[in-house]
Amino acid sequence: MKSKRPHKSNRGFVIREFRITDYDSLIDLWNSAGLPHKPKGRDTRQDISREIDHPNAVFIVAEKKGCLIGSAFGTHDGRKGWINRVAVLPAERRKGIAAVLVQEVEKRLREKGMRIIACLVEEWNKESLDFFQKIGYVCHRDIFYLTKREGDHI
Ligand SMILES: CC(C)(COP(=O)(O)OP(=O)(O)OC[C@H]1O[C@@H](n2cnc3c(N)ncnc32)[C@H](O)[C@@H]1OP(=O)(O)O)[C@@H](O)C(=O)NCCC(=O)NCCS
Repeated sequence: MKSKRPHKSNRGFVIREFRITDYDSLIDLWNSAGLPHKPKGRDTRQDISREIDHPNAVFIVAEKKGCLIGSAFGTHDGRKGWINRVAVLPAERRKGIAAVLVQEVEKRLREKGMRIIACLVEEWNKESLDFFQKIGYVCHRDIFYLTKREGDHI
């Protein structure tokens, strides 16, 4: 059973579970943050609604004065934990919000037994590459990402 209790924070924001009623605000956040996402693919309301109920999912948001200012999604496949959809509103950046979100996802994935946490970042996304390396992730430049998909929109 997932905890629904928001985490108190003395930094002016709270970390809490994502709820499907946040969906429209989440898409607004991702658009404002410039986060690449797939609103007609794996980020439809229906798909995210299904995913958040999965026991392997850790979907959290940062909220300030009733507005979503950040998000971080985690999942695991039984071998590794994966961090996805880390985004913070431009006006709220460089305040440590993404670091707090990712640390919380990591903690919850470790509690589920994951000893490796990984994320995929596009080569052009320098700010995210810098961010993840700053918070302790090692960049593997010798790995290529290969996929097989039902369509480009997925
Ligand atoms: C990447 C992103 C989530 C970082 O959010 P943030 O809340 O500003 O990050 P934090 O304040 O927690 O940063 C922690 C540390 O990471 C590093 N960092 C963060 N953004 C950085 C940037 N643009 N350039 C260089 N280093 C950066 C810094 O060292 C920072 O610590 P400092 O501010 O004390 O120097 C945010 O820039 C964003 O939303 N980007 C667009 C969405 C996106 O591409 N997400 C990633 C998908 S993989």
